Amino acid sequence: MSTYKDEYAGWQSDPEAYWCEAAQAVDWFRAPQRILDDSKAPIYTWFADAEANTCYNAIDRHVENGRGDQAAIIYDSPVTDTKTSITYNALLDQVSRLAGVLASKGVTKGDRVVIYMPMVPDALVAMLACARIGAVHSVVFGGFAAHELAVRINDAAPKAVLSASCGIEGKRIIEYKPLLDEAIAQSENKPEFTVILQRPQVKASMVEGRDLDWADAISNADPVGCASVGGADPLYILYTSGTTGQPKGVVRHSGGHMVALLWSMKNLYNVQAGDVFWAASDVGWVVGHSYICYAPLLAGCTTMVFEGKPVGTPNPGTFWRIIEEHKVKVLFTAPTALRAIKREDPNAEYLKKYDLSGMDALFLAGERADPDTINWAQTHLQKPVVDHWWQTETGWAIAANPLGIEELPIKPGSPAVPMPGYQVEILDDAGHPVAPGTLGAIAIKLPLPPGTLPTLWNADDRFKKSYLEAFPGYYEIGDAGMVDEDGYVYIMARTDDVINVAGHRLSTGAMEEVLAAHPDVAECAVIGIGDKLKGQSPLGLICLNAGVDRAEADLQKECVSLVRHEIGPVAAFKQCLVVDALPKTRSGKILRGTMVSIADGTPWKMPATIDDPTTLDAIAERIGGLGEQTS
Ligand code: COA
Ligand code: AMP
Repeated sequence: MSTYKDEYAGWQSDPEAYWCEAAQAVDWFRAPQRILDDSKAPIYTWFADAEANTCYNAIDRHVENGRGDQAAIIYDSPVTDTKTSITYNALLDQVSRLAGVLASKGVTKGDRVVIYMPMVPDALVAMLACARIGAVHSVVFGGFAAHELAVRINDAAPKAVLSASCGIEGKRIIEYKPLLDEAIAQSENKPEFTVILQRPQVKASMVEGRDLDWADAISNADPVGCASVGGADPLYILYTSGTTGQPKGVVRHSGGHMVALLWSMKNLYNVQAGDVFWAASDVGWVVGHSYICYAPLLAGCTTMVFEGKPVGTPNPGTFWRIIEEHKVKVLFTAPTALRAIKREDPNAEYLKKYDLSGMDALFLAGERADPDTINWAQTHLQKPVVDHWWQTETGWAIAANPLGIEELPIKPGSPAVPMPGYQVEILDDAGHPVAPGTLGAIAIKLPLPPGTLPTLWNADDRFKKSYLEAFPGYYEIGDAGMVDEDGYVYIMARTDDVINVAGHRLSTGAMEEVLAAHPDVAECAVIGIGDKLKGQSPLGLICLNAGVDRAEADLQKECVSLVRHEIGPVAAFKQCLVVDALPKTRSGKILRGTMVSIADGTPWKMPATIDDPTTLDAIAERIGGLGEQTS
């Protein structure tokens, strides 16, 4: 049995040999000869000369190997009172037919397809159908509004959009089609056609000549086979929040993605073909891409598609019911979901009603896991509760407790140790490594491992500027933290204007752009303040144009509705205050960090660089203690 230390040292001694060995888990059409291409460094590519198909590896090969009758997807939707199971055989049929629909309309290798769908199995079918023909999908989370969808459609310039008539949020039906129509109207790059899944809850109105009915199209389609795709051809683009309103299009190459995800299923999550794996997230996020859709299917597991919430659909026992009923071996969720359950069921009475003996471990990611939440879960589950840390850009864990190799001691508050492929360093402002236990910016020595982003879509320069320039030779993660004497990593805060609300990554810069467009707003700032349930929540501070004399309540209402309309309900923008002035440094930089400390009630000092101290005193009176600390 190898240990974590052996495994990590094995990778360090010969990274290319390590990933070449891991690549054996993929069925290639043409095996890789050159493992890492560094000829265009600092843009690196893995398995560039290989050929394979992700859909083939996720579906066809399992059917060929006798798994055709095994469930590939179990769909559990308490909001529609539906439970269904789709075998690998049935999934192959649906995916190859939808791929046939796309191909018959002229979608070919390299073309983009935007997917805007709720949590139904068809969302996975859509992703896999694109992968089958080598088209590049870009999934947009359903909680984003039309404008955000339009921004992504414009950037990706898709030939087609795949969507549904509606999503269901608790008891509410959210019509998707009007949002899609509005987004297409706003976009300069219009898709040639759409395919719309009509759900029984709402019938979407269709645009003649542009919109195809999903069920009709599929039933008339000829199934198509798998295209041969280059290892460094993009499988998908996933837009994520940066510091501005223009999201970053994270590119995922197909070859390294398969290698890394298969490695992680075995070594990190410790699951095998036939196991049931449940990532309680959404296909719109990276967790959904990697661990609802691709990794479980690549590994021949059964993946859960859950359409519901941790509480209220109908109660805080839903997660535990699903684990018992569908024999879930590993659950992966965000700490917010557990906090929501704990808040409604502090003594875990619901949990005690279910037989969770088949469950091996709970994995948490997406935001900081506070020790209280980890301890609560560990006490009641009596299973390893593993915090692990990653981001959209990396696609899989940077640091974790690799249960498939060795279960390391858990230190609540730390997502444990770096995975093979990641040399994690803590750097000071000048880019020098600091001593253990010292806070600094977290950076990863280049090259990043397979599966991580090679670049941003159509934006190599932005990629270099955003991630590679601050510390030459390193990838800058955007998180601050430290590493202790035992090599455990601790993540403390973001170093940019990105906030994390209920495990959802949001840009305060994007919200500021929306507020600044309000006719009465002269200046504004949005900060992320502590929130007991969601980790952080946004707080808007607006200064009004001279002469504007309006009630604060009216302005608040308008600003809240503006952000909801422009960015979407997922921004959870509910608090907005009118202030006389924003505190700034003498060079004009808004003191966001100090305001966050004030709101969260953590110690703060009057910055020496402040232009006018009275502005901060006035703000402190308004927002002091407004944020509820997580732990
Ligand atoms: N389509 C449309 N609207 C959506 C949506 C979707 N796919 N997802 C969320 N929304 C809406 C919600 O309805 C809510 O709207 P509201 O302001 O009208 O109430 C808003 O966006 C915020 O959503 P959410 O953050 O999910 O809050 P909530 O109050 O509905 O639920 C929790 C609270 C804690 C149950 C929920 O945040 C949760 O399950 N969090 C875990 C998050 C998670 O798994 N993240 C994955 C990252 S790995
Ligand atoms: P996303 O790209 O949406 O997955 O968000 C990634 C960001 O979420 C990271 O850069 C971190 O700031 C935060 N994050 C993710 N996982 C963790 C974790 N386990 N602990 C602390 N922060 C985390």
